[in-house]
Amino acid sequence: MSTSNSAQSITTSTEGPGLTLYGGDGTGRRVTVRDLARAKRAGERWPMLTAYDAMIASVFDDAGIPVLLVGDSAGNNHLGYENTVPVTMDQLVMLTAAVVRGTKRAMIVADMPFGSYQESPEQALRNGARFLKEAGAGAVKLEGGKRSAHQVEAMVAAGIPVMAHLGLTPQSVHTFGGYRVQGRDDESAEQLIADAKTMQAAGAFSVVLECVPEELAARVTDLLDIPTIGIGAGARCDAQVLVWTDMAGMTTGHTPKFVKQYVDLRAALGDAAKAFAGDVVGGAYPAPEHAFH
Ligand code: KIV
Repeated sequence: MSTSNSAQSITTSTEGPGLTLYGGDGTGRRVTVRDLARAKRAGERWPMLTAYDAMIASVFDDAGIPVLLVGDSAGNNHLGYENTVPVTMDQLVMLTAAVVRGTKRAMIVADMPFGSYQESPEQALRNGARFLKEAGAGAVKLEGGKRSAHQVEAMVAAGIPVMAHLGLTPQSVHTFGGYRVQGRDDESAEQLIADAKTMQAAGAFSVVLECVPEELAARVTDLLDIPTIGIGAGARCDAQVLVWTDMAGMTTGHTPKFVKQYVDLRAALGDAAKAFAGDVVGGAYPAPEHAFH
């Protein structure tokens, strides 16, 4: 039986309250890492989206999305940078706090920006703790396999749930020389599998697999006890994540092959702005019913 009614509450059963991850079961509490572990055991697939502000996050929370990632993709999709590299801790702490305030049920995962954890486990712990203490996040995410293992161990030992990120890790865009599918040859595929196992052994509660061949993602998914979350990694992952601005048609320029666009929000908002402008210029807005007397 669950005694929980808040993010901090205690669940007394070993299996949790049987939360259906997508949509929720009305327990009135936030999704936890235990719910994700149960979903993996039950073979239940679930969706994750990015969010960078309270209003959009509340839409996705109301839609029943169980996990929201305050990705450092805020760099290109929210803050106007060319890539994720310039994003700072202070920026992501502020955006994460807004997403937490806008939601009631989703687990909020904060992305550790470039330069906030690579230096040492101590640096990772200090910055990871900021996301939980200052922003109210439920977990953090960092990029890298073996090279980030000590950072993951230090944070998990301190009580910070960690999501790992392998494959195309955008913070290494300068090393990769662009955004390319990873793990295509035998050597890099074996390396990715070893990294995934290392992350699980270090205590990560899930692994994002970005832009890797479907067959490789399927192997990793079968090998791990923790959930895999695919983005451009085919249909065999335990969960799928998309950048919200991609799936909602807000992003301009090149759209990666793996993106499915569910709505053309950019066109809809542009049309609304033009209609408003036309009404103002033509005198149709404000109409008498919009005025105070
Ligand atoms: O920052 C981000 O949005 C991400 C996702 C692509 C997984 O890391």
